[in-house]
Amino acid sequence: MTLSETRTDTAPGLGPLDIDLAALPRRFAWGTATSAYQIEGAVAEDGRAPSIWDTFSHTPGAVDGGHTGDTACDHYHRWREDIALMRELGTNAYRMSVAWPRVVPGGDGPANPKGLAFYDRLVDGLLDAGITPSVTLYHWDLPQALQDRGGWPERATAEHFAAYAGLVAARLGDRVTQWATLNEPLCSAWIGHLEGRMAPGWSDLTAAVRASYHLLLGHGLATQAVRAAAPGAQIGIVNNLSTIEPATDGEADRAAAVRMDGHVNRWWLDPVHGHGFPADMREVYAVDLPERPGDLAAIATPLDWTGLNYYFPQTVAADPGGPAPYARQIDRPGVPRTGMDWEVDADGLETLLMRLTEEYGARRIHVTENGSSYADTVAADGSVHDPERARYLTGHLAACARAARRGAPLAGYYAWSLLDNFEWAYGYDKRFGLVRVDYATQRRTVKTSGRRYAEVIAAHRAL
Ligand code: IFM
Repeated sequence: MTLSETRTDTAPGLGPLDIDLAALPRRFAWGTATSAYQIEGAVAEDGRAPSIWDTFSHTPGAVDGGHTGDTACDHYHRWREDIALMRELGTNAYRMSVAWPRVVPGGDGPANPKGLAFYDRLVDGLLDAGITPSVTLYHWDLPQALQDRGGWPERATAEHFAAYAGLVAARLGDRVTQWATLNEPLCSAWIGHLEGRMAPGWSDLTAAVRASYHLLLGHGLATQAVRAAAPGAQIGIVNNLSTIEPATDGEADRAAAVRMDGHVNRWWLDPVHGHGFPADMREVYAVDLPERPGDLAAIATPLDWTGLNYYFPQTVAADPGGPAPYARQIDRPGVPRTGMDWEVDADGLETLLMRLTEEYGARRIHVTENGSSYADTVAADGSVHDPERARYLTGHLAACARAARRGAPLAGYYAWSLLDNFEWAYGYDKRFGLVRVDYATQRRTVKTSGRRYAEVIAAHRAL
């Protein structure tokens, strides 16, 4: 059976690969990544309850085009086909998330057997296909029931998260060894509670800082719960980091860059690595942290690996009248950009991999997401030629190889994303997939970038 419209034989017209593949370890996780709400659909099926993203996406004006995740890529029903696509690409790893509202619909309280059974089937299907699942426990879909009780600004949410994490690990931990607690807590806290552009859509600095604290506390408690339930589990956290440069040499812009680095990078990395919350940023936010004895130690529970999501660099200028951290991103003229208007800068990925290695002493790093959105066109024969995405991919893989050559303990790379999917507040018009999804028919088509990725993986295997 041909599962995709286009075979993954060659990627036409892209020239030779220019990646130092020999710098990557022999055993390397070549993966793709997705998340539950972005692909599953079936939001009201088999006992799943609403999450904050169901609520947010159904709020008029919140998401471009009024799009929702109600159907998404219908992965809940088409997961077998999607695993076959992973095989077609030659990947040996897959980063997925478990939907908390599918497994524990009320956020706390009884588990939903049908929800757990879905992830059983999916994990078994992946393993049968020779693909190692890497399971993220929270990719932004907080059960609405917990939001109704205050959400992440409340300490109880962190405790419920740990209980849910332990429950999932107890069920899947006999087959899943790779676990991540949170995906991009920065987005949950800052974009969700401060900028209001993501669920739950708040603009409240105090709530945002409290949410950031409880997300990290939840991470630490969940790490302990997963280890208790599944000895041998390999656990990490996934942060989206950026390189930060000042727009000018002026003192104000240089100070803004330090603040933005604190906001985007250090606030999330320092506490997890045992350095506590950065003192300068505590002053910038001027919000009391809801600290209790023992919390910092829980947040700093040692990890087995670090996850890096990298998309773009940031150049920033002082913004005294703006929101915390009083710094704003500047557009650099002449720099290539993706369809998200994000600057393309593969060197930033190398820089961040080296920073995690040298400054934070990372022992194992996975690039858990990296990818690009472009406005794809479908040719008359149904094929999708996306050379820009293919170049973004190989350029960033070359950066990974450079970092590995310099000593970064890189263990895997997960392309974002396997499929075009629900791109949060941007809806379905922003496409990140190596595989195109025609949402009207749910037909999948491997793009040129997907075939390029298959070439890279095959070339590495052939070394
Ligand atoms: O789609 C998202 C993903 O859910 C989290 N990281 C960034 C991706 C692209 O915006």
